[in-house]
Amino acid sequence: MQIRDIMRACTVMPVLVIEKVEHAVPLAQALVAGGIRVLEVTLRTEAALEAVKAIADNVPDAIVGVGTVVRPEQFAQAKAAGAVFAVTPGLTPKLAAAGREAGIQILPGVMTPSEAIAALEEGFDAMKLFPAEQAGSLGMLKAMGGPLPQILFCPTGGVSVESAPKLLALPNVGCVGGSWLAPKDLVAKGDWAAITELAREASGLRG
Ligand code: 3PG
Repeated sequence: MQIRDIMRACTVMPVLVIEKVEHAVPLAQALVAGGIRVLEVTLRTEAALEAVKAIADNVPDAIVGVGTVVRPEQFAQAKAAGAVFAVTPGLTPKLAAAGREAGIQILPGVMTPSEAIAALEEGFDAMKLFPAEQAGSLGMLKAMGGPLPQILFCPTGGVSVESAPKLLALPNVGCVGGSWLAPKDLVAKGDWAAITELAREASGLRG
């Protein structure tokens, strides 16, 4: 599956911070039950790679990837755990080379036109706009769409259930990313039904 297909398969890409590996499968099942199949598990916790493996092994309808990739070796580790894509907050030549070598789909993060052009030069035409709100969100994406219409964006960072529909209506937005689908308190208390409701609401945001 190419990264553009993965983006098209979701409305909102949930940014997941999984502290306990035992939360991984019920959390993924809850999101999938609400229509959210593409899951970004951030590599910010010790449990992250094990969580990816648990989801890949046990939730066949999920399309699981990793986020917060900031070191070259993390691409191969993510692939070995079963991740099919990897999201980075930014891009360097070293990260681009390691990602290509690992053979995993990559959604590189950019914030400026120069960064976007550098990512195009590395062969990427789908990118995460990060941090989206601070970068100018809707106005920034409209402005980028003029000179750089070939880039499909996933704005992430500060996106909410309120701001997502307008972003999703832009021709250069494939999906949006956000952490609001898996609030820490709901995950901690295992309120999977509430998470399914949030997913259901998010999956209908494209209008
Ligand atoms: C992150 O880095 O956690 C993501 O960009 C999500 O940001 P959000 O919490 O503003 O959705």
